[in-house]
Amino acid sequence: MTRLKNKVCLVTGAASGIGLAIAELFLHEGACVMLTDINAESGERHAERLRKDGLTALFERLDVTDEAHWKQVMEAVREHWGCLDVLVNNAGIAILADVEALTLAQWRKTNAVNLDAVFIGTQQAIAAMKMQGAGSIINVASIEGIIGEPLAPAYNASKGGVRIFTRAVAAHCARQGYGIRINNLCPGYAATAMITGGMETVGSDLAQQFQAYLEQRIPMGRLAMPDEIAKAALFLASDDSSYMTGSDLVVDGGYLAQ
Ligand code: NAI
Repeated sequence: MTRLKNKVCLVTGAASGIGLAIAELFLHEGACVMLTDINAESGERHAERLRKDGLTALFERLDVTDEAHWKQVMEAVREHWGCLDVLVNNAGIAILADVEALTLAQWRKTNAVNLDAVFIGTQQAIAAMKMQGAGSIINVASIEGIIGEPLAPAYNASKGGVRIFTRAVAAHCARQGYGIRINNLCPGYAATAMITGGMETVGSDLAQQFQAYLEQRIPMGRLAMPDEIAKAALFLASDDSSYMTGSDLVVDGGYLAQ
């Protein structure tokens, strides 16, 4: 289990769900991981649990929409470990409301967390990684950045924006000879708080109905487990994906195949 031996990684939104699964897998593969999240209570608790297992986990509170906050956390990574090899821009939110019900404030909030923050994190990671001539940035987009969902136009737009942003940055970094690869990880529907009840604007009954509806439509008949998404992130983080940049890696139980 050494595919990320001594690699320094930063994962946003790592206090739960997919981000936590990615942080845990990276740690078990030998990485030093800075878990970050807006939810400090849960993030600290998980980092402490992981340290007790002998893993090199730290936690810093980071609101990904705050550029100054990003700078402090990048500085903390540098102080602890001296470099940054892998950034996973994973933090995200979903607000369910069709285009007629959606407010401008909800649109802006979704795009601030899901898209603007990916720009901020990517820009700061490039500044750190280009000095060392290598790095991997993984942007957690979604199949919902490829197809539209009537109840998620803001989410769709933010994730579609991430996908094309990643392509522009990949071409730039490759042509500059920075040695930095950047790819999109596009999960299908995964069993996390985002789907199983944590959605803003939707009560738990409607969330359960939505989950049942999704399961019917997924060819494999079930949601992804977070660790199944994390394994794809590991591939993008490691040298196994050395010729891959500007791509989408879709992990969706066959959803887009139909
Ligand atoms: P989750 O709700 O379990 O985790 C999201 C994490 O992001 C939470 O720990 C939350 O505290 C954190 N977060 C929210 N706003 C933040 C902010 N401003 N700054 C820092 N952290 C913040 O959800 P899940 O499912 O693990 O989502 C992770 C990523 O995967 C998101 O980008 C999501 O859009 C994406 N995704 C999820 C899918 C799913 O079906 N669960 C499908 C496709 C993509």
